[in-house]
Amino acid sequence: MAVYLDHAATTPLDERVLEAMLPHMKAQFGNPSSVHQRGRKARYVVESCRETVAGLLGAEPSEIMFTSGGTEADNTALRGVLSDARPHLITSAAEHEAILRVAEHRAAAGHPTSILAPAPTGAVTAAQVEEALRPTTGLASLMHANNEIGTLTDVQAVAAVCRAHDVPFHTDAVQTAGLLPIDVDTLGVDLLSLSAHKFYGPKGVGALYVRSGVELAPFVRGGKQERDRRGGTENVPGIVGLTEALKLACEAQAATADRLTVLRDRLIDGLASALDPAQFAFNTPVEAQRAGTVGIAPHVVNVSFRPQGDAPVDGEMLLLNLDMKGIQASAGSACTSGALAPSHVLTAIGRDRAMGSAAVRFSLGRSTTASEVDRAVEVLAQTIDRMHRHRRPTPARS
Ligand SMILES: Cc1ncc(COP(=O)(O)O)c(C=O)c1O
Repeated sequence: MAVYLDHAATTPLDERVLEAMLPHMKAQFGNPSSVHQRGRKARYVVESCRETVAGLLGAEPSEIMFTSGGTEADNTALRGVLSDARPHLITSAAEHEAILRVAEHRAAAGHPTSILAPAPTGAVTAAQVEEALRPTTGLASLMHANNEIGTLTDVQAVAAVCRAHDVPFHTDAVQTAGLLPIDVDTLGVDLLSLSAHKFYGPKGVGALYVRSGVELAPFVRGGKQERDRRGGTENVPGIVGLTEALKLACEAQAATADRLTVLRDRLIDGLASALDPAQFAFNTPVEAQRAGTVGIAPHVVNVSFRPQGDAPVDGEMLLLNLDMKGIQASAGSACTSGALAPSHVLTAIGRDRAMGSAAVRFSLGRSTTASEVDRAVEVLAQTIDRMHRHRRPTPARS
């Protein structure tokens, strides 16, 4: 059996979630907008889900909108909140593409955009946000946990700065739901994105929390669904799946976080002792976390390999070799794997091209065991060793 260490890319569907969804793919197939009984039943299901999700996040039902996933939730937050009157966006170069591509697109169209540079730890501070604020700032958006290296944003501190300047603050909590407590009032956020497939729910469904009073223009226009904020027939089975998955994830959150933190530290210590320090570096800010200066998520450990002589380690080959030995990990975000360019996150924290392209992200989940972690360390150490030994000499230039 392969060892799956790519939970930040996606998680398997929980059997209990599937069971909850199935009736809504079969007999209970109504359209929530239909006025007949079958439609009204579907409407009732969607609205009860909204209530449950709101309760789990400490929000009001009217503050929850369902989306097609994390990408749409992020796009909606940015495109829906920024206005002609307040077009200035503050975000960071380490955000997920679902934020960064929108920011870049807006910047190219001439909208004022501040893309903050993270520290080498991946962290962006409240002070950086405060310094970037302008009278026309319409939104700040920083992710709760970085999906590639696990660095946490001090969301409460950033939220406090934004609140003091009356600027809405969005956080992408796609990587943290079910792993860290997500209470919108405790965090102090005005908007928050979730994606079900990262917490053992189905793919293609997410949610956006929008604090009451924050004006949000529709991003997907069509029918009057989602209080006129998102057109399109609701994905009823998906919404049921997201809700059940979030409920289960929140119930187990503290225990899951504790268990994964132990396994993550076992992985970090295992890598540190199995690999030659001259060969690799942690991209996850392990030292800063141990020094107490930044937090890291319980489930992500990312390492880069240094070139041997003048030959960079081929990151794609490394992942394929790990896969052949039954270890499924990724180079960074799944969306960027396959591309030869180093990930934008690793570039943003100062990794050069060679090290940025020779990265492995392990991400742990509910099924991960200590022996899987040990196996991953052993296989990675052997694989790197073999790749170095079998590296063909660079052909002489003619
Ligand atoms: C931090 C973060 N934001 C957004 C997304 C996109 O979510 P989805 O796959 O649901 O569109 C991901 C998925 O990798 C993510 O890790």
